[in-house]
Amino acid sequence: MDFESLRKIQEDSKRVDALYQIMEENSRLNRSKAARVEFFTTTTYVEKFLKEGDRILDLGAGAGEYSLYFARKGYEVSSVELASANIEAFQKKITKEDKIHLIHGNALDLSCFEDNSFDIVLLFGPLYHLSKEEDRQRCIAEAKRVLKPSGTIFIAFILNDMVILTEFYYRPEFFLENSYDHETFKVEDFPFIFFTLEQTREMLHNAGIQILTEVASDGVSELLEDKINAMDDESYKQYLKYHLYCCEKPEMLGRSNHLLTIGKK
Ligand SMILES: C[S@@+](CC[C@H](N)C(=O)[O-])C[C@H]1O[C@@H](n2cnc3c(N)ncnc32)[C@H](O)[C@@H]1O
Repeated sequence: MDFESLRKIQEDSKRVDALYQIMEENSRLNRSKAARVEFFTTTTYVEKFLKEGDRILDLGAGAGEYSLYFARKGYEVSSVELASANIEAFQKKITKEDKIHLIHGNALDLSCFEDNSFDIVLLFGPLYHLSKEEDRQRCIAEAKRVLKPSGTIFIAFILNDMVILTEFYYRPEFFLENSYDHETFKVEDFPFIFFTLEQTREMLHNAGIQILTEVASDGVSELLEDKINAMDDESYKQYLKYHLYCCEKPEMLGRSNHLLTIGKK
C-alpha cells in the first residue's frame, strides 16, 4: 500500500487501519526532545486535573504512550484503538503489572462502557481521522456519555493554519503546490483532518462541551526541531518552562501543530 492508494479508500476506519500499516506511530512522541514537547505539555495538563483513584479512558490510544504513562502512575486505564498495527505495538509493551484494559475497537461505538464511568477521557486521535462532521459529533457524544458529570475531557486537534508552515518547512516549494486552497489556505484533509482554531471551538460548542482551557501543546517545536534536539538538558528544561509559560496565551493558540482543548460536559 502506498499513499496514493490510501487516498482512494473512502471508509475512514479502513483508511486509518491501512495508514498505520505504513506510518510508524510507535516513536511519534518519544523520538526526540522536540517530539517530546507535546507529550510533556499534555501530561502536565492532564495531571493538573487527575485525582487519586481516577479512571482514565484513552480513545485512539495509538501505540499506548499516554495509556502506559498513566497506568504506570497507578491509574486504571481503558484504551480503545482502531488500527491493528498500533494495537500490536501497544500490546507488546503491556506488562502484567499494568492495569490496562486494551480494546481493539472504534471510538464511534463505546457501548462496552457504561454512562458516566470515567473521570478523565483522552480523545487524542480519532478527530484527526473522522472525515464527516456527523461522525465527529457522534464520537464526541460517545466520549461525553461515558464521562462522569464531574469528569474532564481532553481533546487534541491538528491545526490547519500551522500545518501550512510545517509543510513549508519540509518542502520549500509547498506554497506553489495544489495541496491547499490558495485563497482560503485550507489544507487538503489527507492523511489527517485539519481544523482552524475557530472550527474546533464551533465543533465543541455544537457537541455541548464547555471549554475550560486551550493549550498550544507543541507550539513551534516541530519548526525548531533541529535547534531543540541540539539543546543540552539544562537549556531544554528552560525551553519547556518557556513553552509552559506561553502555551495558553491567545497569540500562541493557532501557532501550534496540535491544540489541546480541556473541557467539561
Ligand atoms: C496520531 S495517532 C495518536 C495516538 C495517541 N493518542 C497519541 O496522542 O500519540 C491517532 C490514533 O487514533 C486512532 N484512531 C483513529 N480513528 C479512530 C477511531 N475511530 N477509533 C479509535 N481509534 C482511532 C488511530 O488508529 C491512531 O492510533
